[in-house]
Amino acid sequence: MTAVSDILRTMDYGVAPESDEHARAWLAAHRDGFGHFIAGAFTPPGQLFDVVNPATGERIARVSQGTTADVEAAVAAARKALKSWSALSGDARARHLYALARHVQKRERLLAVLESLDNGKPIRESRDIDVPLVARHFYHHAGWASLIADEFPGRKPVGVCGQIIPWNFPLLMLAWKIAPALAAGNTVVLKPAELTPLTAFAFAEICVEVGLPPGVVNIVAGDGATGAALVAHDDVDKIAFTGSTEVGRAIRLATAGTDKKLSLELGGKSPFVVFEDADLDSAVEGVVDAIWFNQGQVCCAGSRLLVAESIAERMYAKLRARMEKLRVGDPLDKSIDVGAIVAPVQLERIKRLVEAGEREGAKVWRAPGPLPERGCFYPPTLATEVEPASILAREEIFGPVLAAMTFRTPDEAIALANNTRYGLAASVWTENVNRALEVAAKIKAGVVWINSTNLFDAASGFGGYRESGFGREGGREGLAEYLVAPATATKPAKAVKAPLSALPGRAPAPGGDAIDRTAKLYIGGKQTRPDSGYAYSVLDPDGKVVGLAGLGSRKDVRNAVEAASKAKGWGAATAHNRAQVLYFLAENLESRADEFAARLVAQTGAAAREARAEVETAVRRAFYYAGFADKYDGAVHATKTRFVTLAMNEPWGVMGIVCPDQAPLIGFVSLVLPAIAMGNAVVVVASASHPLTATDFYSLLDTSDAPAGVVNIVTGEAATLAKTLAEHDGVDALWCVGARELAKTVEAASAANLKATWTRLPPRDWADEQGRDYLRRATQVKNIWTPYGE
Ligand code: NAI
Repeated sequence: MTAVSDILRTMDYGVAPESDEHARAWLAAHRDGFGHFIAGAFTPPGQLFDVVNPATGERIARVSQGTTADVEAAVAAARKALKSWSALSGDARARHLYALARHVQKRERLLAVLESLDNGKPIRESRDIDVPLVARHFYHHAGWASLIADEFPGRKPVGVCGQIIPWNFPLLMLAWKIAPALAAGNTVVLKPAELTPLTAFAFAEICVEVGLPPGVVNIVAGDGATGAALVAHDDVDKIAFTGSTEVGRAIRLATAGTDKKLSLELGGKSPFVVFEDADLDSAVEGVVDAIWFNQGQVCCAGSRLLVAESIAERMYAKLRARMEKLRVGDPLDKSIDVGAIVAPVQLERIKRLVEAGEREGAKVWRAPGPLPERGCFYPPTLATEVEPASILAREEIFGPVLAAMTFRTPDEAIALANNTRYGLAASVWTENVNRALEVAAKIKAGVVWINSTNLFDAASGFGGYRESGFGREGGREGLAEYLVAPATATKPAKAVKAPLSALPGRAPAPGGDAIDRTAKLYIGGKQTRPDSGYAYSVLDPDGKVVGLAGLGSRKDVRNAVEAASKAKGWGAATAHNRAQVLYFLAENLESRADEFAARLVAQTGAAAREARAEVETAVRRAFYYAGFADKYDGAVHATKTRFVTLAMNEPWGVMGIVCPDQAPLIGFVSLVLPAIAMGNAVVVVASASHPLTATDFYSLLDTSDAPAGVVNIVTGEAATLAKTLAEHDGVDALWCVGARELAKTVEAASAANLKATWTRLPPRDWADEQGRDYLRRATQVKNIWTPYGE
């Protein structure tokens, strides 16, 4: 007879299947195929493609491939609905969002089973993680709908949002996109992934059920071509995308110069760092949640295990023992740990990458447990002896494959953790709180989990650094992506009378007293000659030469970026220190107000009174950002119990700033000061037509104790210099104020390294151009989840 102790020892589970009866009935009711959900109703099915259950290979539905005409109809419906939806009171919108949340909960079983059938994820996850988080997201944002007027005064919705989501968390990604958009008063056209569109249709039915006004949510299914049509549509105001970095790049290129707001949540290769003093058993369970959750098809999966050399073998042994116990199989079985890979194409990709890693010399160990005979399954896999340059350490595999490496010192751990083009998430395991927080601060990632992993909550922002994208989803940070300041009209640029002209080494035409020197560039705290050796004439509005400025080149920009990189200590200085420098600068500017005003008059032909007013505004602005330097606080988000979720505002590092051609002083000051107040080092391209104000600024910087390299100034032709900044991998973010053509150049050039850009046409009135929005854009938020309690 089997003894209880035998059962406990073998822990042999029976099968515990979740019933798919309701989901099957729902699918049967749609056996003729799904159309799109446009203006509150389903369109008749068009050209259909198959949707397949990856655990069995069986076709479970047929769905219409969205055409350009479908996208147009959906965008038109969203545009039509926008006026009344955005005019509703926040409370009225909140009621709709609450209703959506409640109805998601009412249908949670259907949604969870459908998700598992469509995607292959274990029912335990769809039931206990995905769907509850979907409801949580709608509840949380219902609250925001009521609060926006108070919490984001003066903001308005962006408009019609095109949203494109991937297949790994189909319904959760839908909620992450739709809930904040609707709360903020936008309307949406959402394109689910072609592999997993079904829960989006179930959600569409919920929209009808709760009486959401037609056109507020529109859903068009289809593949990348449908997504591209949505991105290209002229009447879409914002694109929010989650998916591969490659497609993110294509979208950045397609939207360059279009004025569409963009947020990208892209891939990752997140480190899971285990120090010697970590609680190893907890860390092993952490790895299970980090890389075998959702079969590793998670953008923030902890796919690189970095473990202290002294404990590596012990950790690997424990991991292998744990992996032997993981059960891979039918996603609808409640006792399954690892379900099916989403599709054969993804399974092939995983196999290809692992085999390539093996050929490179990694030692690959696949968990020996049984795999189902049919369907898309891949065993939990551990690769050790992985070199940092190996494909397994670099590429996002998006499968249940852990690449392990060792380190000796904390510095080496941090260097390895940051040795990636991505920066989405990280997990840090140590019992030493000082080390945990230090490492969390130094890892370049949007989310850091301490002694935990893969935690999500609607109140916390989520999103990446570097090539993991830009923008956040969730919480206050995420909501800001769906709001804009009311558009300020732009002033037609005053014609510059003469084009920028290079006068190599030649003295300008006799022009009188104003020509007292050739302004150089300012790099690393020193005035330096431009690499080209050329200067150009600076003209007043009558075409008279008022001075010479250095004609900066790509080489000068590169030198300036290098100098700025060396000044990164500025970001680590206390905010109090930075404030002191800015106060000093404000005082020095004030004491030289007459001189700066005279220079403005000479260059721009402004009336003396106007010039004086510009200087006074600049002085006030300097005091303002000096005051703000130590007050732009982060937050502690209210997420889960027993966690402090710290939202830290971190400087980008090195920022590029392209100043407007007009308003040479106030344009410069309004952009440069918030950036440095937040701890960035900057490379500034001064106004091309009126560069002498910026070059006068050198002496202010010198006398205000600004450390060398914090502000670097290059003069010359904006388009060339801006493009170089956009392309430069050492520049972490770029602001550019100028004509649409310039914005297009900058945005297209930034697609390669996906840096965050903020491009704007020049505002009409710089007097209003200050505030938190500048500080928000001068920082990126890192959310650090810190557990407490034993
Ligand atoms: P993908 O990036 O091609 O697909 C994501 C979404 O973008 C889908 O809805 C797709 O239809 C749409 N799309 C594709 N091309 C488009 C275009 N040119 N314009 C607009 N929308 C477009 O990802 P895919 O091919 O499904 O997976 C490939 C790899 O991408 C995975 O192996 C994984 O490494 C990565 N990936 C990362 C995700 C993440 O959350 N970071 C999610 C999905 C995939």
